[in-house]
Amino acid sequence: MFLLIGLALAGVPTKLAPDEERGEALYRASCWQCHGVNALGDGPLSAAVPSPPLAGRIVSDDFPDTVDLIEAGQGDMPAYSQVLNRHDIRRILVWLATLDPETGINPDAPLPEEDTEDTELEDPPEGTVEGTVERPETVVPPAGALKAPPVLPVLPPAED
Ligand code: HEC
Repeated sequence: MFLLIGLALAGVPTKLAPDEERGEALYRASCWQCHGVNALGDGPLSAAVPSPPLAGRIVSDDFPDTVDLIEAGQGDMPAYSQVLNRHDIRRILVWLATLDPETGINPDAPLPEEDTEDTELEDPPEGTVEGTVERPETVVPPAGALKAPPVLPVLPPAED
């Protein structure tokens, strides 16, 4: 949680590109209900309307044909030409292409779960659970600690 806030404030380059960000937002508004939150084909409506997984499955060469399909609809897939323009549909495809087809997660997205994968850390320090060392529990302040700080007395400079 604090790691995530820290990354956001520091403007770390793991932020999604603007097209991907907008594509994700549009997908979350219009498509997840059938195709699933992680685009694995398992949205709440997929029981009634079996919907194919989309994560990481559409390569950029197929974007033009796929935009056509989404505009026109197909079978139980609704037509989106009255709802979204082609550029925005393409942005959805750009975002979908960043997702891993198995997990439906973008491995480069700034999510704390991904940042803690043991890709760089070969030997976690003794006594830590692998993959969690970047988020020490002790930095979490107690409830109420974020309210206005008490007025502290002025101390002489620390000597060291
Ligand atoms: C009401 C459920 C529903 C919604 C909402 C929906 N889809 Fe679909 N979608 C489907 C179904 C069902 C199919 C399979 C259509 C067929 O070929 O019979 C499909 C097919 C597709 C395909 C083709 C996949 C392939 O492998 O051929 C793409 C791409 C797609 N949808 C993207 C989208 C996008 C993008 C959105 C949001 C803008 C969206 N869908 C919203 C149900 C839905």
